[in-house]
This record gives sequence, structure tokens and C-alpha cells, in this order.
Amino acid sequence: MKKLTIEDKDSKVYDSRENWPPYTYRDYPGIKQETYKSFIEFLSTENKSDKVLELQPWISLCASRCTFCYYPTSAFSPSIIQPYLAALKKELEMYAKTTYIQTSKFDEIVLGGGTPSVLSAEQMIDLISFCEKRFTTTDEYFIKVTCSSKTLETAKLQKLAEYGVYQVDMGAQTFDDKLRKQLRLPDSAKNVERAVTTARKLGMCVCIDLMYNIPGQTMESWIDTLKKSIELDAEIDCYSLNVYPNTVLGKQLKAGKVPPQGDAEFEKQMYLKAYEILTDAGYGALGHDRFSRIEWHFKENCLNGWPWAGILTTGFGCIMGYLQKFSYTNVEDVNKYIEIVNSGKLPIDRLSESTPEDMMRRTMTRLYLRLPVDKIEFFEKFCKYPEDVFSKELRSLKEKGLIEIDDKEIRITKLGDLWKGNIAWEFAPKLIK
Ligand SMILES: C[S@@+](CC[C@H](N)C(=O)[O-])C[C@H]1O[C@@H](n2cnc3c(N)ncnc32)[C@H](O)[C@@H]1O
Ligand code: SF4
Repeated sequence: MKKLTIEDKDSKVYDSRENWPPYTYRDYPGIKQETYKSFIEFLSTENKSDKVLELQPWISLCASRCTFCYYPTSAFSPSIIQPYLAALKKELEMYAKTTYIQTSKFDEIVLGGGTPSVLSAEQMIDLISFCEKRFTTTDEYFIKVTCSSKTLETAKLQKLAEYGVYQVDMGAQTFDDKLRKQLRLPDSAKNVERAVTTARKLGMCVCIDLMYNIPGQTMESWIDTLKKSIELDAEIDCYSLNVYPNTVLGKQLKAGKVPPQGDAEFEKQMYLKAYEILTDAGYGALGHDRFSRIEWHFKENCLNGWPWAGILTTGFGCIMGYLQKFSYTNVEDVNKYIEIVNSGKLPIDRLSESTPEDMMRRTMTRLYLRLPVDKIEFFEKFCKYPEDVFSKELRSLKEKGLIEIDDKEIRITKLGDLWKGNIAWEFAPKLIK
């Protein structure tokens, strides 16, 4: 694996790192009647792409609220589960009946959220088995479940493993108990360790989310967390903590109740440290923030198919749905969600239909996902080469040493890995920032 050791003189390409690319759900417009109609028409066509999709039913419920979290989740209440699961199956059924979905294959079923592990193992398995019956899966497909260590007892993990769940995704965030307390993560580092170890012993792959540049987090604390994660043999998603003003953490920071975050330089050094430690331990950088030691994860269809494949995301509060040129989020309120689904409509809140120009720009955000832009594929889709459309941007990025271009493809360099979010923004229309 390559090491990312970047000389100080080379690493100051931008003042600070962008950690999110353009074209995320934050930019989608509210749903309009004509876009909804266009989406429904699209769903009545055949999927003629050769891309495989991912199916994601979301359970946007949490047993408690972490101070930093910006996801539109609701507090868990036992009485909402039955009506919600019934509505979720109805929404899934609406999609399953469309021509587009009937002519699509899925190679991953992912319970997302939120924390689906607030459900019982039986409820999760019932939902997964519903998806298996109603959607066409590839011969070999994978089941993944997003969980929280605080709602993941050993018996639950055992039942999931027995059913054939391949991977558990878990928000560990940090193994530093002082920081865990400050972020209102309700269980201890030891409990996270127990959940990861149990899942690994049961043969499941475990991917943990870690956050860096947490207020008060030292470099030593970050290094300890990384080392613990390697010791537990977990796959790792490293997120730079982004503070949103409306979260509890945003308010705590404003009121001076927690120490400030590190500056842009410290944040960059933390990323470089993670890259160094993880690549030294045999991990490779994958997707936007992941580090993995599992070779075939680098070939995952859904990741590699961006932006032509699709993630069929369902459930209230889901934010990452896309099917080719359509991207959407669902309504965030569970009662409103149930009402809309029961009226026979898709519970979409925001819906974006990309123009061909937008699709060209979105194709360039493959660089943010550490994927190459294939020039021939680009030409086949748009009858133009990337250089015909983005000559200025590509020249400037190449001069800065952030990308490499050959006859076949455009890809990020080692230095580009550090600035991949900023690279993606170079291709965004200047208006949307
Ligand atoms: C929706 S959560 C799903 C994980 C699961 N709910 C749990 O906490 O165990 C996905 C991940 O997003 C990351 N995340 C949430 N808020 C964030 C923020 N403000 N900045 C950066 N990452 C964030 C966290 O690492 C979190 O685990
Ligand atoms: S990080 Fe996970 S558990 Fe915490 S509030 Fe967000 S979705 Fe819920």
C-alpha cells in the first residue's frame, strides 16, 4: 500500500479541506409536481444500464441523540414501530411494482439510519426477508445492518449472523471515554469493543465510523482510537467532524461549553496521521472516507457505478437516494411519512433531476470517491471528452499536482487524496456553494 507522506511545502494547496462534495442532499430542491411526474415516468421505463443497485430501507430512530449528529432521526418509541414497519413495506412495495425496479438487480440490502438495531433481531430479519422476496438480487448479494453498540446485545448479533448478515456498520466515533461522555455517547469504549469483538467472532465484517477533530481531542487520543480499531480488525470510516449550528454541539460550542475544534491545519494533520497509520497497517483508502483491508470491497458495484447506478433508499428521514439522474430525500416526520404512504404516494420531500450538464459535473465527483473518471465512458454518455468540457479545471488541478491524466482516465494523485473534497468543488457550478 502507498504511504501518504506529504511534504509541508506541497500540502498547502487550499486553506482548508472540504469534507463534503457538491450535489449532496443539501442542494436538492423541494419536490415539485412536474419533477415528481418525471420521476414516476422514469420508474415506468426499463433499467437498460448494466449497473447493479443497492437497496436501503432506513430506520431513522435512535435510543438517544448524539450531540454532533445532523441526521434527521427521531427518538425511539415502541408504539411507532409496528405502524412504521407496515408503512415502510408499503413504500418498498410501491417501488418493487415499477418497471425500472423490476428490471434492476440488487447486490446489497442495507438497513440504514439511524439505528435499525433499536428493532428486535426478528423485526430486522423480517424486513430483510421481505426485501429478498420482493426485489431481484444478484446471485451473490450482501446484507449489511447499521447498528449502535448500545442496542446490540450478543443474542441479537448471533441471530443476525445466523441469518446471513455479512456486515455490521457501527458508529464508534472514539474509544476515548472522556470524549464519549462529552458527545453524549451513552455507552463506554469497552462496550463498543465488546460489540465489535463479538460480531467479528461470529464471522461478520464490522465497519466502524470514527470521527476526528472532535472538540478537545488530542492527536494522542486520535492515534489511540485508530490503533484500537486496527487491533479489533475493523474496517474504518473516518469522518472529519462537521459542526452544524442547530445541533447540541453547535450550541455548546457557541456558548463556550466545550473547547473549540482544532484549526484547518490540525484537522489536515489528523487526516494525514490516519492515512499513515492505517496504510502502515495494510489498509487501503476506499470511497469517500473508508479504509479497508478487504480486497473485493474496492470493487463494490454500487460505489464503482456512481453516478449511473443507484441506491434505492426508503423510509422516513432517508437522505441518500438516487437512481441515475434523480436524487431524493424522504420526509423527515414519521407520522407525515405514514400518512403520505397510506395515500398511495411516494413520501419524497426533496427531488432533484440532473440536467446532462449536471450529470457531467456529478461524473467528475468520482474523483472525490477516489474513483477514476473513464474518458471513453464519459464520451459514450455525453459525446464529449472531460477535457472538452472542463479544460480549465483539469489543467489547473494537474498543475497543482492533484490529478493525473492519461489516454484512458483521470485520477487523483497522492496529494489529491488529501484535497479530494476541494477537487470535487472545482467542477460544481459556482452558484451552488
Ligand atoms: C447516521 S450515523 C449511523 C451510525 C449509527 N447511527 C451509530 O451512531 O452507531 C453515520 C455516521 O455519520 C457520522 N456523523 C454524524 N454526524 C456527523 C457530523 N456532524 N460530522 C461528521 N460526521 C458525522 C458519525 O460518524 C456516524 O456514525
Ligand atoms: S450518530 Fe447514530 S446514534 Fe447518534 S444520533 Fe446520529 S444516527 Fe443516532
